[in-house]
Amino acid sequence: MSENLPAPENLLDAERIQMIKNFRNELTGFMLNYQFGIDEILTKINILKTEFSQLHEYAPIEHVSSRLKTPESIVKKVIRKGDELSLAAIKDTVFDIAGIRIVCSFLKDAYAIADMLTNQKDVTVIEAKDYIANPKPNGYKSLHLILQVPVFLSNSVEKVNVEVQIRTIAMDFWASLEHKIYYKFEQEVPQSILDELSEDGKNPRGSEVT
Ligand code: GTP
Ligand code: MG
Repeated sequence: MSENLPAPENLLDAERIQMIKNFRNELTGFMLNYQFGIDEILTKINILKTEFSQLHEYAPIEHVSSRLKTPESIVKKVIRKGDELSLAAIKDTVFDIAGIRIVCSFLKDAYAIADMLTNQKDVTVIEAKDYIANPKPNGYKSLHLILQVPVFLSNSVEKVNVEVQIRTIAMDFWASLEHKIYYKFEQEVPQSILDELSEDGKNPRGSEVT
């Protein structure tokens, strides 16, 4: 046997290393697509923001933030929901890998911004939940949209889902506080605080924050 050939057990290691490298590259590409999706929607939001301030001398958007869910957090969610743990399945089941939050000054601005985004030709609305008209039992209010945008890559076009949350400053203030309280008390929030958060205080939290 030639000295240059790896021993069979090492060959197995080499194959394993190659598999890990391949998966790492695949995962990097997968996550990048979601970052590109965020970039596409952020550009749209910035155009609206700038146009408004230039032409209408009015700023309906107070601030915008975005985040990419970590692979660890994606895996936790998939396991929690009992879904299939493959990149293809994750693409079809986890809609909040790319997340954008738009905080508006007033209620009518939140709806106006939602309309301006959803009416754009390259945007497909996958899901729309109006927790402003129908607040969660705990009092949570926000507009939730899952928007799909095409991302043009060198050799392909990827359709990417982006979760967009639109709310007013007051709703955002409430949600941040509720989120903090929920984690501070390790999800066992005293009734007196629940009472303060929701108007009747009888209802449990709507859903887990991820
Ligand atoms: P997820 O599995 O969390 O995505 O739930 P879902 O698919 O039912 O979506 P939903 O529209 O209920 O919530 C999505 C996101 O909205 C969460 O990840 C949070 O960022 C936010 N959210 C939903 N409910 C609450 C809440 O009660 N309090 C706070 N602070 N945020 C919430
Ligand atoms: Mg979520």
